[in-house]
Amino acid sequence: MRTIFFIIGCFATSIVFSQKNEKLALTPPMGWNSWNTFETNVNEELVKGVVESFIKDGLKDAGYNYIVLDDGWMSKERDSQGNLIPDPKKFPNGLKTLSDFIHSKGLKFGIYNCAGDKTCGGYPGSRGHEYQDAMMYASWGVDYLKYDWCNTEKINAEAAYTTMSRALLATGRPIIFSLCEWGDNSPWLWAGKIGHLWRTTGDIYPCFNCEFSHGTWSSWGVMRIVNMRKDIRKYAGPGHWNDPDMMEVGNGMTLSEDRTHFSLWCMMAAPLIIGNDIRKASKETLSILTNKNLIAIDQDSMGIQGFRVSQKDSMELWAKPLSKGDWALCFINTSSKSQKLTYNWSSNTITDSLFTFSLNTKNTSYTVKDLYKNALLASTKKPLEASIASHDVLMVRLTKKQD
Ligand code: GLA
Repeated sequence: MRTIFFIIGCFATSIVFSQKNEKLALTPPMGWNSWNTFETNVNEELVKGVVESFIKDGLKDAGYNYIVLDDGWMSKERDSQGNLIPDPKKFPNGLKTLSDFIHSKGLKFGIYNCAGDKTCGGYPGSRGHEYQDAMMYASWGVDYLKYDWCNTEKINAEAAYTTMSRALLATGRPIIFSLCEWGDNSPWLWAGKIGHLWRTTGDIYPCFNCEFSHGTWSSWGVMRIVNMRKDIRKYAGPGHWNDPDMMEVGNGMTLSEDRTHFSLWCMMAAPLIIGNDIRKASKETLSILTNKNLIAIDQDSMGIQGFRVSQKDSMELWAKPLSKGDWALCFINTSSKSQKLTYNWSSNTITDSLFTFSLNTKNTSYTVKDLYKNALLASTKKPLEASIASHDVLMVRLTKKQD
């Protein structure tokens, strides 16, 4: 009898204290967000064009499904009942119609707001309106909320994000909750129980390794973001992800740099949120973003965030344990010249001491697949030899050989 009460008690407790929809984002979310390219210049036609491109250019088939409207979708004031109003010039048919359109194409709809009184762009924030706004989003069929952190002076971050998380849960609609407080309050320590992903860093900038100053704050190149946080991979996993920001692939870096950026996001099990004008993307950009070999690394069901194994002479090696004993390895040439790589498998054992995996090629032999060329290379019985262009990668997947 006591055991039955205990089980019922545990079950009830988990219902009462469940603070988010636990079934969402079991692999890192994938989609598109308007901010990196369009800032507040969003409108219905843009979103419809993105939806069309998702279908025509194979993005939907590759697994991208959330279309997220960032800042700038609202009117500058709430209505007399305190409701948010979509900007009637940008969205003449309202957001429910747009959301129905997105859903009719088998995609999902995301939206943006902020924990402060105003968003970063000066539109009405959700502070004091959390439940009202969440209900409105649910009535529009919103599936994803990105929740920012401007104008929040003196608010406690964990409390503010918990309020919005509860408001989303109370709607009964499955809505992914994406926290965007730039890593200021170490969200990896507390956000896993209330949200599905959290920004780890400030805003990204489309350069390989630069800092771009906006006066009082800076945005950061790809390698700056990657190097900014240490030891937080243990907090990522199915349903709760470290988010190094939306991607800048196709936004002005070289193809080599775009490949490196995309590879690192996949190695880090990062959310894959496209940030370019996908309607006008080149076929090279599309081929990076829709590379199924790479996406499979990001979306691996174990959900382990990869790690840097070594860094020597401007050559980095990253590793990510995958399901069924596979491994992804990424060699990055961070120098300004191309470099030759010779990697002797038998003299290198890679150990993931945090998640207790080890890649030892002495006793087991693996096939080695080049994931961009989609070609098998020599197995781990022979050293890996390659030439890697400046700021480019060699991205391989190791699978145990059946012999
Ligand atoms: C912050 C966020 C960005 C974007 C803008 C919108 O800077 O970090 O990703 O949402 O606000 O104003």
